[in-house]
Amino acid sequence: MDLKQFVTIVPDWPKPGIKFKDITTLMDNGEAYKYATDQIVEYAKEKEIEIVVGPEARGFIIGCPVAYSLGVGFAPVRKEGKLPRETIKVNYGLEYGKDVLTIHKDAIKPGQKVLITDDLLATGGTIDATIKLVEGLGGIVAGIAFLIELSYLDGRSKLGGYDVLTLMKY
Ligand code: PRP
Ligand code: MG
Repeated sequence: MDLKQFVTIVPDWPKPGIKFKDITTLMDNGEAYKYATDQIVEYAKEKEIEIVVGPEARGFIIGCPVAYSLGVGFAPVRKEGKLPRETIKVNYGLEYGKDVLTIHKDAIKPGQKVLITDDLLATGGTIDATIKLVEGLGGIVAGIAFLIELSYLDGRSKLGGYDVLTLMKY
């Protein structure tokens, strides 16, 4: 299946000059969403993933159905002030700003094999911060999966030693 036909390119959003990749038109198509999810599930099976971790909000859309299909847990990475118990946190740079990501301290057991998921690899700032959180808790980042990679932003250079799957490249 050619997944790109389900991604809508929105010109000049959220800023002039940005060609936004809208994945909602992939998600609201049952066959396309299932196909994309299944590709990541197959990858995760090879990596013997024990838990899936994704940053809010779009990392949940990708990671939760993968975790459900694998029969493993999902641990959310959230912006500061959203998780109710003890967390660790990391500052990160975004494509269009700055923020803080957090994870519950007990979300991952040391040595657990983790799959990190998100919709999009742009500058890599979000995933770099998510990796730091997972490793900060002793998790092993066994794979990282995205729907989309914006190759021209070279986020991959931040993910040097990691195994990365991307389903679409622009
Ligand atoms: C978007 C996207 C990725 C991130 C990619 O999330 O969903 O998580 O940016 O950019 P980066 O590689 O430069 O970090 P955003 O922070 O807009 O929030 P959302 O997922 O809650 O919409
Ligand atoms: Mg996001």
